[in-house]
Amino acid sequence: MTFANRLARVAPSPTLKVAAEADRLRRAGVDVVDFGAGEPDFPTPANVATAGHKAIDAGYTKYTPSAGAADVREAVCHRAREDYGVGFTAAEVLVTAGAKQALYNTAVVLFDDGDEVITHSPFWPTIVDQVLLCGATPVLARGRRDRGFVVEADEILDRVTPKTKAIILNTPCNPSGAVMTEDTVAAIADHCAKTGVWIVVDLTYDKLIYEPVAHNIVKVLSDRHRERSVVCSSASKAYAMTGWRAGWTLGPKDFITTCNTVQGHATSNVCSITQKALMEALTGPQDAVDAMRAEYRGRRDETLGWLTEDARVECLRPGGAFYLFPYIAELLAPCGVKTSAEFADALLAEARVALTAGEGFDAPGFVRISYATSRERLREGVSRLQAFVHARERGRAATAR
Ligand SMILES: Cc1ncc(COP(=O)(O)O)c(C=O)c1O
Repeated sequence: MTFANRLARVAPSPTLKVAAEADRLRRAGVDVVDFGAGEPDFPTPANVATAGHKAIDAGYTKYTPSAGAADVREAVCHRAREDYGVGFTAAEVLVTAGAKQALYNTAVVLFDDGDEVITHSPFWPTIVDQVLLCGATPVLARGRRDRGFVVEADEILDRVTPKTKAIILNTPCNPSGAVMTEDTVAAIADHCAKTGVWIVVDLTYDKLIYEPVAHNIVKVLSDRHRERSVVCSSASKAYAMTGWRAGWTLGPKDFITTCNTVQGHATSNVCSITQKALMEALTGPQDAVDAMRAEYRGRRDETLGWLTEDARVECLRPGGAFYLFPYIAELLAPCGVKTSAEFADALLAEARVALTAGEGFDAPGFVRISYATSRERLREGVSRLQAFVHARERGRAATAR
């Protein structure tokens, strides 16, 4: 069997792989603590779920326009006005199956063979794999460990060449939790406004920022570089709606129309029921988002404290998203493993804790711990991790004697 050449460039998502393995063990009756999941443990807020039920009961179960129903696109505009103070028309909105489809449409529309696309590392693998699938070349700006991977404008702009088609920014970032500053994005936007390079921002975790920092990226881009800026976002994390598949793209009208051509040939509209739920999420009360954010913040701080009881674990406090991204290189040799990938495999096999090794994010020596799980499970998982390290160390000391 021969598959298309483009498939040789990409690999399955490492995060989905961990989730599948944890799920397999759970179904076999094993008590796994799952730090791999990139999704909220909270249920979808009741008002949002009810809107979905109502859509079914009302028979709202037919095709909608491929770009999304008009009222749903208006709801996206409403939220953008409320959150960012920026006006968009419905023609500048595409409703997508999560930010993933928003980013994928964008990649298909913008990237050609021979294009270079700059993004920052560590990265969420899908960003880079979508670039590769479209035949373009990802160019990586590696963030600095001592700055928690908060990327600076010159680190990105130093990599611009005449072949640069776009810059993809993800803030807050999965896996590092790094939050970019408005100044950084402004400096990048000013440069791109002169050179015509596109800026694509992935704001999937935009609602999960834990300190009061200025992060109105949509306004910064709209003020400086609106003709070539694309915003990809999602209800998945903010409204605990991962399974509904609800996201959107904001961008210039022609660009959105072209994304809709791609979407029209791929999936057409997002599920009609999901669209009604999304509309309620975006226009209804927002207090569930605030409550979830407060709980994540508490979990972040508590788990960080437990993890760093072992001084060999280096972990900065991430500003957003719901991941801790500790550097565990100093634990590898004492545990008898060479890489963080081996560490993660052994931890799952011996202590039944699932986490994602940094290798998948271009960050060997790190592991990603999702704190989108209850405090009890977080405590249990960190205790198991610590017990695993001690057991491994004792085992090695005994062999050495
Ligand atoms: C950085 C980032 N962008 C986009 C997504 C896609 O989320 P969804 O397609 O559910 O909106 C994820 C999911 O994990 C993510 O971490």
